[in-house]
Amino acid sequence: MSGTDRVISQEALAAQQDYAERVRQLYLKKLPRQPLACAVTFGCQQNEADTELIRGMLADMGFGMTAEEDKADLLIFNTCAIREHAEMRVFGNVGQTSHYKKANPDVVICVCGCMPQQPQVAEKIKNSYPYVDIVFGTHALYKFPQLLYTRLTGKKRVFDISGDESGVILEGLHPVRKEGPAAWLSIMYGCNNFCTYCIVPYVRGRERSRSPEAILAELRELVAQGYRDITLLGQNVNSYGLDREDYPDFAGLLEMCNAVEGGFRLRFMTSHPKDATERLFDTMAKCEKVCHSIHLPVQCGSDRVLKAMNRHYDKKRYLELVDYARAKMPDLTMTSDIIVGFPGETEEEFEETVQLLERVRFDSLFTFIYSRREGTRAAVMPDPVSREEKQKWFDRLLEVQNRISREINARYVGKTVTVLLDGESDDKNYDLTGRTEGFKLVHLKGDKSRIGQYAQAEIDRSSTWALFGKVK
Ligand code: 5AD
Ligand code: SF4
Repeated sequence: MSGTDRVISQEALAAQQDYAERVRQLYLKKLPRQPLACAVTFGCQQNEADTELIRGMLADMGFGMTAEEDKADLLIFNTCAIREHAEMRVFGNVGQTSHYKKANPDVVICVCGCMPQQPQVAEKIKNSYPYVDIVFGTHALYKFPQLLYTRLTGKKRVFDISGDESGVILEGLHPVRKEGPAAWLSIMYGCNNFCTYCIVPYVRGRERSRSPEAILAELRELVAQGYRDITLLGQNVNSYGLDREDYPDFAGLLEMCNAVEGGFRLRFMTSHPKDATERLFDTMAKCEKVCHSIHLPVQCGSDRVLKAMNRHYDKKRYLELVDYARAKMPDLTMTSDIIVGFPGETEEEFEETVQLLERVRFDSLFTFIYSRREGTRAAVMPDPVSREEKQKWFDRLLEVQNRISREINARYVGKTVTVLLDGESDDKNYDLTGRTEGFKLVHLKGDKSRIGQYAQAEIDRSSTWALFGKVK
């Protein structure tokens, strides 16, 4: 299949724009004021980026945005399927919307994203949440205007969880980004890895890379618009370009992005260790715009469990990468993901994860208790350890990591670091927040009018989660 075949066609896009205009006209007739939409996002950065596309489509359809659910004429939940907890939260939130529907039967309730891409979940919404009007999966995202038009002009609820799992590449949609100097830039979609615990490859389809031309054009536009902290986004950015002979690899793409003119920082996520290469770290070290910061999910410290997870690296290789990266970039900040209690994991194997943490000393961690996902390979593996036991392991892991994070952050006290000022602090003793190159959160005293700018920050205090100080 050629690259252009996978990109959404001009005709398909034009058809959606046509539907968007028709929806706009319908609301002009229906309401004496601008319709309002409220979009709620669950889950990862990819979902955040998808919600930005949804906001773009909503703007095309004439909607203004509100953060208040009860004021909205249209409510849309962009959902996450990664763990049961995420799904329960979505169901809780969607359940609340029956009140809005009772108060105003014209309110349109939409559920989209990863959850309904699973047929059994779509079925559950159909049967148990009759007030949900529109349900669509990740593959149908761009069809939102059509689905809304169909709902508004028909009597039936609208379901679209179709979709070829090879997926399309969305070009030509215009995201409406959140405020602030940071922006997501999707470089690829989907995942081919089928880690045995993970639902993502089932709901997001196969890996497909955007063309370097499209990525560079969007990057230039972002820089021209004033964005200063740009994260290249993909489920596994390290396999960027591997689906196409004529595309650069990820390190090559980073170099091309680094060459774009302007005062901005580049980050990327997520990196799978199996595709992380020494060449990637060499490239990070030599590209001045690329932050010395990496999220490199290890998942666990036991070779047997890593194999059962289908991760395609072992502890030795992971540590080799960490050591190489740190030798090249002594100031590198590292974060990771850990799953506790994968089916069949023993206490000894869990202890190997703790040892790995002590050896690597990540700046911070995202830690999860294993959650069984219907349809994945791990879902049918024997899982004898109790939830209580897993919780104990999890608490121990947090304790170890919190100490390490505290120790690492304490080393910043007395130092001056460059931060990008990105918003107002929610801590009443401070005015602003900033992010260091390593993406550490810094609460700062200083002039709020400088939000959006780089600044030097003197750090005088630290905690497990953040640094504190003043703008110089
Ligand atoms: N249970 C627990 N954690 C999971 N993750 C992915 N799937 C599961 C699951 N079934 C975690 C992994 C991944 C992160 C995004 O979510 O650590 O890196
Ligand atoms: Fe899930 Fe593994 Fe793909 Fe990450 S790399 S999205 S954990 S299957």
